[in-house]
Amino acid sequence: MDGNLQNDLTEVVANDKAHVWHHLIQHKMFETVDPNIIVEGKGMRVWNQAGKEHLDAVSGGVWTVNVGYGRESIADAVRDQLVKMNYFAGAAGSIPAANFAKRLIEKMPGMSRVYFSNSGSEANEKGFKMIRQIAHKKYGGKKNKILFRERDYHGTTIATLAAGGQHERSAQYGPFPEGFISVPHCLEYREAAQDNLGKLTVCVRPMRLRMSSCVRVRIPWAA
Ligand SMILES: Cc1ncc(COP(=O)(O)O)c(C=O)c1O
Repeated sequence: MDGNLQNDLTEVVANDKAHVWHHLIQHKMFETVDPNIIVEGKGMRVWNQAGKEHLDAVSGGVWTVNVGYGRESIADAVRDQLVKMNYFAGAAGSIPAANFAKRLIEKMPGMSRVYFSNSGSEANEKGFKMIRQIAHKKYGGKKNKILFRERDYHGTTIATLAAGGQHERSAQYGPFPEGFISVPHCLEYREAAQDNLGKLTVCVRPMRLRMSSCVRVRIPWAA
């Protein structure tokens, strides 16, 4: 891609504005400006409909394209597999799944099996279900609580929002399933306020308490 677009994308932009509901963005502004349509990518760079080049420092916008754009070896492998066997339900096995699971497990000592899912939210939902099923099998449905920390993010489905500690994300989506219990986060540095005199307020909050206890200490390297 050299920034020179071959085709006029005016109609694509119009279709997007008329019919696409974008993730995590207010659409009101599209009444006056066009949405960004990412047309092509190579390495760490992407180009939009106007041919404008961006350095993608956020890996696909949400930290997902870790290998970069335009990797032909990956595209070839995906194409070959799609032609040979594109999909069969997970009740059956597949050659890539079996081989990839083995390689993944080699990197995760103590683990023995891989369950494939489509997203982080879905993986967490599966984790919740596993825990609840164990609770039912071993403890008659007791010991079913799932703890999460304040400020946690676990996804956007209803149960992962119930397990999320960022309430601005879950507002307006309740009611939520029961049994998800908030515990304090461990980011105590957020509660430490340093002033210009080289003193630091250190706050300690025991796991079970919501109250912190704070002391002022002089830090020798900042006085
Ligand atoms: C820690 C964590 N858990 C879960 C998710 C949800 O993943 P997904 O967006 O694939 O559903 C994310 C996504 O950013 C995450 O960072």
